[in-house]
Amino acid sequence: MLSEFLDTSDEWIVPRTGIKTRQIVTDERFEELAALAGQRAIDAAGLVPEDIDFIICSNVVNCYVTPSLASLVQGLLGIKGPNCPTMDINSACAGFVYGLDICDAFLQTGRANRILYICAEEVTRMVDWTQRETAVLFGDAAGAMVLGKGDNMLSCKLTSTPMPDVIYYRLPCEATPYETGTGIDTHMPMQLKGREVFRMAVSSAQRDIKDVVAKAGLQLEDIDHFLLHQANQRIIDAIKQNFDLPAERFHSNIEKRGNTSSASIPVLLDEIIREGKVKRGDLMVFDGFGAGFVTSAAVVRY
Ligand code: UT7
Repeated sequence: MLSEFLDTSDEWIVPRTGIKTRQIVTDERFEELAALAGQRAIDAAGLVPEDIDFIICSNVVNCYVTPSLASLVQGLLGIKGPNCPTMDINSACAGFVYGLDICDAFLQTGRANRILYICAEEVTRMVDWTQRETAVLFGDAAGAMVLGKGDNMLSCKLTSTPMPDVIYYRLPCEATPYETGTGIDTHMPMQLKGREVFRMAVSSAQRDIKDVVAKAGLQLEDIDHFLLHQANQRIIDAIKQNFDLPAERFHSNIEKRGNTSSASIPVLLDEIIREGKVKRGDLMVFDGFGAGFVTSAAVVRY
């Protein structure tokens, strides 16, 4: 389908990225996709929407700049205010663990008891569909979970290094009578220095994973599941090779879903849980990286 309007082919895409299929929003409304994931997470937890006392969404872009996606989801789920605050976070493809850490902080301090945490991304609306370098890489997705207080987060690491040039997407703001036009607020579909990101992803993931595992007082061999941001199968393979651990501990769904930014890890987590690959008590490492350049990693006991 892509090669009908782009100078590309399966022969280029599959070996370079590992992606065979991806899902893209067509006639659905994106906020409804996020709300659907949220409702399924509430159902899976055996709860009802009224049990939720905070909604946090990880999201880079959607048609609404304001209100937040979390606020839109609240309305769609029929959760009445005013005692369920809502907010979005944007930490690009590293957003899942950034948001998880924020949820953990609210739960540990008793400021929330049941957080609906949704990572929802419509990445395919950020790219120029005439640019083969980016258009073939992404998919849209939403993954969600309900989080309560526990001692499951064993360690976490968040980093940020200002490098806006390696990945960015720019939308113009409204003109004002006073703005003199610096030229930087023009529209620019997603720009990606793929090779640079590839290198930084592999080295940062190796560093961050070692750091969080050590911080948790564990050895790499203790970790049952590694769920890395699904940006490219070759990135996952490079990290896997470096660690010399059993290959089946590194999960992947990029072949089916493409790169879905911060939704990639929670969607993968849902899939491996449904496939019966995870049991209570298993140790997991999550690792993400993306525009910023930001990185995040955590060790979590399921
Ligand atoms: O989640 C955060 C964002 N994710 C990433 O940035 C992912 C990290 N980077 C990558 O996964 C890889 O760098 C890419 C998959 C994006 C690109 O793979 P690459 O092996 O680094 O290829 P390249 O960009 O160096 O391009 C190699 C060639 C170029 O042609 P020339 O200059 O060698 O003639 C490209 O024009 O491949 C060409 N090319 C394509 N050809 C067919 C680039 N995209 C395509 C395409 N189909 N879709």
